[in-house]
Amino acid sequence: MTSQALDEIKIGGLGASRKRVEDNRFIRGTGNYTDDITLPGMLHMEILRSPLAHARIKSIDTRRAWEVPGVHLVLTGEMMATRNLAWMPTLSYDTQAVLATDKVRFQGQEVACVIADDPYIAKDACELIDVEYEPLPPIVNPTQAQAQGAPLIRDDKENQHDNVIYNWEVGDREGTDRAFEQADVISALQLHYPRSHPSPIECCGSIADFNRSTSKLTVYMTSQAPHIVRAAVALVAEIPEHMIRIISPDIGGGFGNKVPVYPGYVCSILASILLERPVKWIEDKSGNLISTGFARDVYLDGELALRRDGKILAVRMRTDADHGAFFSDAQPSKFKIGLMHSTFAAYDVPVGHIMARGLYTNKAPGGVAYRCSFRVTEAMFFQERMMHAAAEDLGMDQAEFRRINFVRDDDFPHRTPFGFLTDSGQYGECLDVGLKAVGYEDFRARQAAARKEGRLLGLGISTMTEPLGAGNSREYDILGIKMFDSAELRVHMTGKAIVRTGAKTQGQGHETTWAQIVAHELGIPAEDIIVEEGDTDTAPFGMGTYASRSTPVAGAAVAMAARKVRAKARKLAAHLLEVSEEDVEWELGRFYVRSAPDRGVTIQECAMAAYSNMPDGMEPGLENVSYYDPPNLTWPFAAYFVTVEVDPATGVWDVLNMVAVDDCGVRINPMIVEGQIMGGLTEAYAMANMQFQTYDAEGNCVGANYMDYLLPTAWETPGYELHSEIMTPCPHHPIGAKGIGECAAVGGPAAFVNAVMDALSGTGVRNVDMPLLPDRVWQAITTGQDVSGAPPVKTGD
Ligand code: CDP
Repeated sequence: MTSQALDEIKIGGLGASRKRVEDNRFIRGTGNYTDDITLPGMLHMEILRSPLAHARIKSIDTRRAWEVPGVHLVLTGEMMATRNLAWMPTLSYDTQAVLATDKVRFQGQEVACVIADDPYIAKDACELIDVEYEPLPPIVNPTQAQAQGAPLIRDDKENQHDNVIYNWEVGDREGTDRAFEQADVISALQLHYPRSHPSPIECCGSIADFNRSTSKLTVYMTSQAPHIVRAAVALVAEIPEHMIRIISPDIGGGFGNKVPVYPGYVCSILASILLERPVKWIEDKSGNLISTGFARDVYLDGELALRRDGKILAVRMRTDADHGAFFSDAQPSKFKIGLMHSTFAAYDVPVGHIMARGLYTNKAPGGVAYRCSFRVTEAMFFQERMMHAAAEDLGMDQAEFRRINFVRDDDFPHRTPFGFLTDSGQYGECLDVGLKAVGYEDFRARQAAARKEGRLLGLGISTMTEPLGAGNSREYDILGIKMFDSAELRVHMTGKAIVRTGAKTQGQGHETTWAQIVAHELGIPAEDIIVEEGDTDTAPFGMGTYASRSTPVAGAAVAMAARKVRAKARKLAAHLLEVSEEDVEWELGRFYVRSAPDRGVTIQECAMAAYSNMPDGMEPGLENVSYYDPPNLTWPFAAYFVTVEVDPATGVWDVLNMVAVDDCGVRINPMIVEGQIMGGLTEAYAMANMQFQTYDAEGNCVGANYMDYLLPTAWETPGYELHSEIMTPCPHHPIGAKGIGECAAVGGPAAFVNAVMDALSGTGVRNVDMPLLPDRVWQAITTGQDVSGAPPVKTGD
């Protein structure tokens, strides 16, 4: 490095805790969300939803709605059917009703739409649509779905004779059976990961604008994956792809909820085509909670085969996933239940077998990856709850049991029992950092002393590695489209630059961090680089942002595009310095002559030359596009520790301390990473403590508003102690980064639950289903029995 090398932190490169540039507009209230956009002549759409969970539609009479002044169009399923749009394909090879024609299959299902001069007229007119329903028995859990004589929910599908969507298995069934025969101890656990909802503050919405004179359809919408929507619209609506422009402007949180294609988007597009005017649809909060992609709702029946000394010999899991009325999750085509089989990836488990069943019920469709890599949240929760129960069954220390089963640092690359290849990590080190920070030994002594006074203290551990960055094209596709991603980098002649990617930020800070990657690769100060995402007419094709895949895939593409630009800049530098390319060295922001380090040119001088003084035969300009197909997933590791005190008289539990040790490889922006971890931990706390969606026996959704579906505020949320001492670079990512966005939401819930279970140890209770509401915990303490949270719940008593 010469004395002229730039200070990377000062230019906002890798490792700089640069303030988020997007916050300039967000905190000033000048963000540009879908609902902020007004187009000339714009109309408004509202949706009429089903009040019943399961009913045959006998008739729909829209006459009174049409008569309301200001109403332009009333859409029903029958009208959609004339254009072959009453049903649409889902991202999991199923079909979903756009507007119901034959039956309604969940409460809140879309039945009709009104398009009017303003949303209030449209809403009033919806109430004048007369729908005659013939109620059918509703199904709200997998047991009911599989019961003899259960009503067939999907009677619209040929060859569908029951409510089973799939039966899928992975692993070595016979090898696992053999290992169980050798076990000294078999530890079993049954539980339910409740239905939760990503619940972004901004609901879903779209403005469709079909221009008859250009034949171009522009749709502003809340999509985490705009290019996928463009492809879907082209295929379903048969509009040529180049005539469709999807623009995702600012998005107020997505968390997986804004990946699917919803009926509201389709109806607003058709309405705009029919009316030749822009049509805006903005969902209300209950509409969002009741009808759009939920998450989880999976039942586990799990067993671990154990040797007396604590070694895990095998794992066996049976899971039932409640998908609601349509199988509409997005997940890699090969894997029916997402990446559930990434479970136990951090542990050296020789063999395992998973049987997964998917079921239709009369509930909203979804199963989306809510801050999660396709069911990884359930996988890690089951894993860590099973680890906790197994350590109890063996009478072993929770930390020690994990330590002896961890994949060791020198065991990488490691093949997991279900075929993944993990490549890096320092699991034991992370555990040690956390144990020290939480004061493990001291807490155990205090816990024992408190017990004698009748006080219930508990400590929960959750450790995990998870696969982030789907994925390599050998294995990962959605509907056949490979899961690569892309970046385009254009350096202007004055050395300023623009980056566009196929990802779509929803608050994660891509506008800040992608510029940091370019600053690292080219030495252009981050403040001289702008980042754009979300416009399919300008951004290169990409699969979008979910499953914490942006840094592993699109972030890698940014680095690779910058490297291609640097390679061209090197040729320009050789030309300017009048030496051969081999004699040119690079340091941050500058090329110089190896034998004369003072003779150099900056990247900005190279940029100017690219437009004004290029060597003979060289194409002008300084830009490039990179499509990045990752060789493997990235495998961040996390260890979370929670201490609690449970009040035996009320079942209320308070968090005393929470320690998080996260190793996500190289941190591009440590401040943003910490923000991601805190947000994820808060979602984990919410799931463990208060947040769930459930259903009563009639199929009514409990959790359709923020009085029932609880979000923690700053008042309830505990403080967190974050640790970043351990950093294991990803061996295949160009800058060594691993994903982080969802780690805490994935690994966190089990730490909270394990802490409460630890406080209850010795009572005979093995499990209380999330959320650990005070009445559930109190019931467990007083009865010594497990408490199930599976629907139906009693309401209205
Ligand atoms: O896909 P998504 O953006 O939700 O998740 P991510 O790739 O894990 O990134 C979340 C945010 O953290 C982004 O702004 C990343 O650039 C940043 N990040 C980072 O600074 N360093 C990492 N090693 C991973 C993510």
